[in-house]
Amino acid sequence: MTPPDRSYVPAAGHGWALPFYDPLTRLLGVDAARRALVEQAALRPAQRVLDIGCGTGRLIVLVAHLHPDVEVVGLDPDPKALARARRKVERAGVSVQLDRGFADALPYAPASFDRVFSSFMLHHLEPTQKVAALREVRRVLEPGGALHLLDFGGAGPGPRGVLARMLHGGERLRDNFGGRIPVLMTQAGLADAREIGHRAMLFRQIAYYRATA
Ligand SMILES: C[S@@+](CC[C@H](N)C(=O)[O-])C[C@H]1O[C@@H](n2cnc3c(N)ncnc32)[C@H](O)[C@@H]1O
Repeated sequence: MTPPDRSYVPAAGHGWALPFYDPLTRLLGVDAARRALVEQAALRPAQRVLDIGCGTGRLIVLVAHLHPDVEVVGLDPDPKALARARRKVERAGVSVQLDRGFADALPYAPASFDRVFSSFMLHHLEPTQKVAALREVRRVLEPGGALHLLDFGGAGPGPRGVLARMLHGGERLRDNFGGRIPVLMTQAGLADAREIGHRAMLFRQIAYYRATA
């Protein structure tokens, strides 16, 4: 079923900038950051994995490449990003299901995934959509399954956050700082929500979070 037409903030903030997203993020070291997220999930054979806001597909292709025995699903509202992801999947010769949809209305059955990934997606949501999206994560996770989330983090935006603020607006980024993300996860009914690490990148600090259903 085609999801309703709704607005969303695309990967690089603007539709025209999408072709620059992969080269720019590669340059900024985001590939290594995503790989660390995948390693944290300690995937096992036959698990089902969802990447929400999969964008141009770099994380899902990495998962499918490292874990060919895992079932991988990527979801994004942006048809152009999904088309890029599809080409990447075909080039890599891996098997991945790609779906169009929104984080706060996931088109999946309850308890249908062992792991959910979210990489630089949460700050694209309106403040009011974030807890709704995290509730959806809890719904589609198996009991005991885990969410592994990566996004901008730290105490506050700081001077190096200027680029991110320009791209996404201060309002959406506000929840990324001062320990707000685990609070939102807990509000959504996820358990044991916590930051499990952070690292400095060229443009600003990023943080890794984990929570369980
Ligand atoms: C910065 S990109 C991150 C893409 C990818 N996860 C990565 O690590 O490169 C954010 C992605 O979130 C998607 N997005 C925006 N609003 C969304 C929503 N409501 N639900 C799911 N994804 C959304 C965008 O289309 C975009 O592809």
